[in-house]
Amino acid sequence: MRTVDLIQKKRNGEALTAEEIKWLTEGYVDGTVPDYQMAAFAMATYFQGMTTEEISHLTMEMVASGDQIDLSAISGIKVDKHSTGGVGDKVTLILVPLVASFDVPVAKMSGRGLGHTGGTLDKLEAIKGFKIEQSQDNFIKQVQEIGLSVIGQSENLVKADKLLYALRDVTATVDIIPLIASSVMSKKIAAGADAILLDVTVGDGAFMKNIDDARELAQTMVSLGKAVGRQTVAVLTDMSQPVGRAIGNRLEILEALDILQGKGRDDVTSFICHLAQLLLRLAGVDKTVEEIHANLENGKALAKFEAMVEAQGGDLKDLYRQPVVKEIVEVKSEKDGYIAALPALEFGLFAMKLGAGRAVKTDVLDYETGIVFDKKVGDPVKTGEIIAKIYTNQILSQKELADFQKNVKIDTEVIQAQEILDIIS
Ligand code: URA
Repeated sequence: MRTVDLIQKKRNGEALTAEEIKWLTEGYVDGTVPDYQMAAFAMATYFQGMTTEEISHLTMEMVASGDQIDLSAISGIKVDKHSTGGVGDKVTLILVPLVASFDVPVAKMSGRGLGHTGGTLDKLEAIKGFKIEQSQDNFIKQVQEIGLSVIGQSENLVKADKLLYALRDVTATVDIIPLIASSVMSKKIAAGADAILLDVTVGDGAFMKNIDDARELAQTMVSLGKAVGRQTVAVLTDMSQPVGRAIGNRLEILEALDILQGKGRDDVTSFICHLAQLLLRLAGVDKTVEEIHANLENGKALAKFEAMVEAQGGDLKDLYRQPVVKEIVEVKSEKDGYIAALPALEFGLFAMKLGAGRAVKTDVLDYETGIVFDKKVGDPVKTGEIIAKIYTNQILSQKELADFQKNVKIDTEVIQAQEILDIIS
């Protein structure tokens, strides 16, 4: 077999066989297929797509390229959750302890943020002392003992994805449904959970800009999961505005703690309770949204979160500390009306420039900086009222502040924001 022939075959719109995909994936991991040929193959895939069989073969070859986690030592149905990325997306921080508070074990591997999107690991590392690296044995032991753990993806999990994702990131080949589906699902399958909830984000701040593409991605991933015996459900969620109030690592931890105490905004709290209901159902536990909400009010979910922080070396005394920044800049409304749009991409990029996110993988984060929105889409606002606070360690120019202000869209008519757009099962 020659790589050039496989690239040509894909370029001409033909489907590759299982053997050909195996050859290509193994060759890429062992170095016999160089980056430039894999990049050409990814670009050909962008234009020609893949059949369902090809996506399935690619996913399973990627799973086979590294370690697979065996969670069988943990009793019960183990659940996992994955988001395709977003701005202010702190859902995992709340959902994991909330589900664990119903005695459903969660053993989760998370990722870091890049560009305008945030990553759960970065948020957890905003907690002093929190360790995201753990041996597989300790990871399993912690879930056996306290019911939950969130750690970084082990080095050898889905080696092919590590290489391919880095390559796609610099060759304009990230936003390709077959490649996103195989990347996400190979990691979920290798991570070993029995049931998987996929949060497929849609809109300005997400990879999928429209609902039809998001639905296709969701359906592809749900089929991949079910084909290997994992219960899989996908939720299409709105990413046209940031999730909740905060963007930025420490600020998102503080918002997560508020939600975990029943003190968060009603919209984001209700959204997370609905996701928890779906995840619990996958584990065979039927609860009403009200029963789930009760575990925020009664401290059970918070207790799980604090137990995880403690077990992973985090400092509970530092947990609730407000961010330490040079300046908190208040952005006030210049007119009366309703918030009509808060473009997630623009504010994600703004927060990234404050140091809350990385432009390139090697950037060092400033955990304390970010944005907190006092108003979200649909909220009424009056002239002079605070819309957002910017937590910064840099002096912001007049132009930067004007750009921020320009991105807050205010209208005279109220718009109803909706978090869950569809459920694919
Ligand atoms: N998240 C992933 O894990 N992989 C992709 O390809 C895109 C988003």
